[in-house]
Amino acid sequence: MPHLLIDGKVSARVSDLLDRMSLDQKIGQMTQTERLSITSAEVKQFHIGSVLSGGGSCPGDNHPSDWVAMCDAYWAASMEEDADHLAIPIIYGLDAIHGNANVLGATVFPHNIGLGACNDGDLLQRIAQVSSREILATGADWTFAPTLAVAEDIRWGRSYESYSADPSIVASYADRFVSGLQNNYGDDAVVACLKHWVGDGGTTHGIDQGETTADLAQLQITHVLPYIPAIEAGALTVMVSFSSWNGDKCHGHEFLISDLLKEQLGFAGFVISDWDGIDYLADDYRDAIRLAVNAGVDMFMVSETWKPFLGGLRTLVNLGEVSLSRIDDAVRRILSVKVAFGLFDKPRPAERRWSNDTSFGCAAHREVAREAVRKSLVLLKNEENALPLRRSSRILVAGKNVDNCGHQCGGFTVAWQGMSGNDFVEGGTSVYAALADAGDSVELSVDGSLADENKHDIAVVVIGERPYAEGMGDIRANDDVLVEAGSQIKGKMKVLSAYGRSLKLHELHPEDLQTIASISEKNIPVVVVLISGRPLVVNQELRLADAFVAAWLPGSEGAGVADVLFGDYDFHGRLSFAWPKNECVGVDFKGDEDILYPIGYGLNYAV
Ligand code: GLC
Repeated sequence: MPHLLIDGKVSARVSDLLDRMSLDQKIGQMTQTERLSITSAEVKQFHIGSVLSGGGSCPGDNHPSDWVAMCDAYWAASMEEDADHLAIPIIYGLDAIHGNANVLGATVFPHNIGLGACNDGDLLQRIAQVSSREILATGADWTFAPTLAVAEDIRWGRSYESYSADPSIVASYADRFVSGLQNNYGDDAVVACLKHWVGDGGTTHGIDQGETTADLAQLQITHVLPYIPAIEAGALTVMVSFSSWNGDKCHGHEFLISDLLKEQLGFAGFVISDWDGIDYLADDYRDAIRLAVNAGVDMFMVSETWKPFLGGLRTLVNLGEVSLSRIDDAVRRILSVKVAFGLFDKPRPAERRWSNDTSFGCAAHREVAREAVRKSLVLLKNEENALPLRRSSRILVAGKNVDNCGHQCGGFTVAWQGMSGNDFVEGGTSVYAALADAGDSVELSVDGSLADENKHDIAVVVIGERPYAEGMGDIRANDDVLVEAGSQIKGKMKVLSAYGRSLKLHELHPEDLQTIASISEKNIPVVVVLISGRPLVVNQELRLADAFVAAWLPGSEGAGVADVLFGDYDFHGRLSFAWPKNECVGVDFKGDEDILYPIGYGLNYAV
């Protein structure tokens, strides 16, 4: 843990603040509200410690200047000291999990599942550094990243937020990404947030916010492991998981939060709840607050219910059900992060070095993203030398994802559930646009109906999933699994409508196989590019394809796909998740006979 958090000067400054704070000011500091539910005046009146943007919650026209103006107003209110209010700067948080992709014009990086295939820690650190500058360009201080989930069941809607199903691959990136974001607390650094503590990727059947059943040893070698290098790298915040461990919700788990994370792993920053995550601990809201505070949660993401939270916690302290020493511990942790990170010494957001900086979405940043796309692609099949494409070939491009930057980016892009089309990914390049730019003769036919063996030498068909986020990305064969999970969990479980019922692409999206078949039956060789948030069962699509590329969720820089398809660069990516032969994944996995391609698989041009 960074010496700064336990540095004498920091703790002296924090003690001085604590000694001057009223109970209401302390409780306010422990509260994070969503921007749409609070005014700047209320931030001051209720001494609020943090404001956030939920996925897609964007001010004004959603350009950096709108964000800077918003952050500046909240910051100014928090720093207006008077007889009733102590000047303590708010910390503004958002989900910049693959670049600051909420904001129009941002550089949108591949989601973590693609980065997991890159096997390049230096690249991850550069991605984090670029992301940090594009977060600072909007006046914010804190990103809820990196996700350190180890996704054990690809039916989980958040599999794409996981680097790998292999804990050692996740661990190899964890410290690099934290170092890239927090960058020695320099002026181009932001606060990192490790999430979601702990076991979010281990739920039975991959149910989002479900039940992770494992003994402590298994939990530690799989889901705790990646947090160790990240904490050693100085991560300043950790977010608790909605999921449960052996039936007990993480949000109320004193052993996991206080004993294991803070005591044993020595985490000295602060722990934040997830979005209204405490609501699911108990029917009575005050009971829920009590359970979470006493378990060791320090800051509470209470989105709209922040007034009941303030009142409820104050009552618990007055009743002696939450000790003042627990309150002081939480506030000391929060203030230590703010002091150590220099938030008290920074100018107001409108006057900071990186606010509104022209490097936001610039060509140099996009080059880093384009490199990441190239390195993330995994070649699963290449017969008859279908790849690399020849520039002089007459190329037909088809498939529902061929000209759709929104689908390339996936969830947490401009909107929580992502976008469709090209308009909202300002500055982005679709795979079609990139191929048309690189090739001499490229014709677009999304459904493939223009395919003609007398006019086309080869076809590139870009298929796969539409954007989704969190539980809305889950694959659930039936809802019986929800009953099973719910029966194991003490407390309530939030369930969102699932993305689909099958991991088989031809059942999930039959239009894709139809497009491939309609072209293949005209004796035109087909190169399939799969845009998806996870591996899928693609046996039928593979059979018809002459070449097959896993492109994951590549983000705004589709040119990275063209670079490799035309052979300007060789394939580099290696699977960080096993590719399934059937739907026997997670708890249904029987053994190698269920695996089509193992972790580490990937072909190259060079033989
Ligand atoms: C969401 C996610 C979490 C995100 C938070 C704020 O529910 O679980 O990953 O950081 O809310 O948007």
